[in-house]
Amino acid sequence: MPIPERYLEELTERNDIVDVVGQYVRLSKKSGANYFGLCPFHSEKTPSFSVNPSRQIYHCFGCGKGGGVISFIMEVENLSFQDAVAFLARRVNMPPPEDTDAEGSSRRKVLLELNRDAARFFHEQLLGPQGAPARSYVARRGISPAMVKNFGLGYAPDSWSSLRDAMEQKGYSLQDLFEAGLIKRGKNGSGGYDAFRNRLMFPVIDVRGSVIGFSGRILGDGEPKYLNSPETRVFSKSHNLFGLNLAKKSKNGYIILVEGNIDVVSLHQAGFSGAVASLGTSLTAEQARLISRFTDEVVLCYDSDEAGRKATARAIGILEKLELKVRVLQVPGAKDPDEFIQKNGPDAFRNLIEGSANQVEYRLRDLERLHPPEGDEGRVDYLKAAVELLSGLPGSVEREVYAQRVADKAGVSRQAVLSEVARVRKRKFSAQRKKEVRDQTRPAQTAQPVFRSIRYDDPRSARAEEGLIRLLYLDPSLARGRELPEPECFSSPVLGKFYAELLGRIQSGESLSMGVLAGRFTPDEVSHLTSVLNGTADLQNAPKALDDYIHIISHREDDGEDLRQMAEEYRKTKAYGGTI
Ligand code: UTP
Ligand code: MN
Repeated sequence: MPIPERYLEELTERNDIVDVVGQYVRLSKKSGANYFGLCPFHSEKTPSFSVNPSRQIYHCFGCGKGGGVISFIMEVENLSFQDAVAFLARRVNMPPPEDTDAEGSSRRKVLLELNRDAARFFHEQLLGPQGAPARSYVARRGISPAMVKNFGLGYAPDSWSSLRDAMEQKGYSLQDLFEAGLIKRGKNGSGGYDAFRNRLMFPVIDVRGSVIGFSGRILGDGEPKYLNSPETRVFSKSHNLFGLNLAKKSKNGYIILVEGNIDVVSLHQAGFSGAVASLGTSLTAEQARLISRFTDEVVLCYDSDEAGRKATARAIGILEKLELKVRVLQVPGAKDPDEFIQKNGPDAFRNLIEGSANQVEYRLRDLERLHPPEGDEGRVDYLKAAVELLSGLPGSVEREVYAQRVADKAGVSRQAVLSEVARVRKRKFSAQRKKEVRDQTRPAQTAQPVFRSIRYDDPRSARAEEGLIRLLYLDPSLARGRELPEPECFSSPVLGKFYAELLGRIQSGESLSMGVLAGRFTPDEVSHLTSVLNGTADLQNAPKALDDYIHIISHREDDGEDLRQMAEEYRKTKAYGGTI
């Protein structure tokens, strides 16, 4: 049963989008009606994420994401529609909606119970007679029994059906096991076999303590080294971190981000209880936000290979945006923190943490490695790169301090460095201002939509279709006393779908709020709809514009020269925002 629309309307009225988004993104009002900030959904340096308070929508010109306040929470907190509604309800002390997605949440419950039972099963296997090979591997890696217990490590036996049999006996169905990613379908679609076999099992436990998925490591060498649970109703790799269930309670005061599960276990064992790892993916914005709920300082400690360095640079960018303090720790003489600790012990690692460079120092050192300041040419290259880096630092004190260091390395005066930095900053800021002006004034839909899955076959008609949707959304009374085209006349199926929904709602006097619409379309569709609604519209000339849009849509079959001319004229006169 869906959530009543009146409820959604009240919810979206009480959760103002500027307030809600403002809790995640630093918004500022530069000009015009919109607020701008750095997009939380993709990595960027200049703000292209806009929030429109009067339409109560957000839209990113960079990645194309958009929607209303509910879509925002779905995206940023990784929640289902129902859970996002419940989240916003709690925020404003509204009672929860009577109806939630009863079926979806009961499926989630089953999968979580199944995962927990599977984790228990794997754990018992590790400790039981079957588990000898895994126990000896664990011992070889120097993992203590206490850590086996804390992390709930387990063993998936070398068998095609031991987990399946055990779980079926507990009353789970094959369907449950498939959905949890614990078994795979047989060749001809019949039956199913255990997905994890002969592997050391790491349950992935979320911050609420639920087992949401698994990583399974091969015992010894071989490929693939790790198998992970697929994405399921309860598991999303990009939104969770291995070890965070324990690290969130750490008294260390910082989170250590490493690459491998084994590194996490090994660090915890050595007393560094703030260690977590992303699950085989590079750090995502969602994971960073999750971390920021528990700490304001992150120590990056990736592997010391080229991939690790790249991952470090990326992670710095993501973490900085959340204003987390970032330090970078490189482990000398070892491929990863686990190996370092096995070789040198916990105290040596503690020394590394204490001496670890803040991220500016780290990046400067990395530059030195890439552009050794030797010889005239080398020094010039180094200076160019360093000036670029310094010019991106927000604080002037910071710039001065590091300018001195760069000057020393390159053998020039500090003043020379600083004046270069000032020059680059000036150039950057004027480019940024220009881009902002461009973003805010460009005709909304001049090209294809951002989403590859949505293509317009007839861009000219599609622009008219977008215009019609936008005007009707902004002023539903325009629909009165007009003959409107049928949705089937639309050249773009997705726009036709939006239009049919809007029209139906206008005609029966129902709400058009984004909160209500968000539940009707997929997230990509919501984003696309938002970008359509976000386009320029001049309501003063709306009736005329509307008629022209209708004309174009209804006559798109006879694609004559006169129409093209007409469109050309509109473009010239720009009578209503130049959106045709
Ligand atoms: P590593 O290869 O560094 O793993 O991959 P590790 O845990 O440190 O293991 P050891 O020390 O070599 O034994 C880092 C992480 O990348 C993911 C896993 O989450 C792993 O912990 N990964 C790696 C995969 O998902 N699949 C793979 O095939 C390999
Ligand atoms: Mn590793």
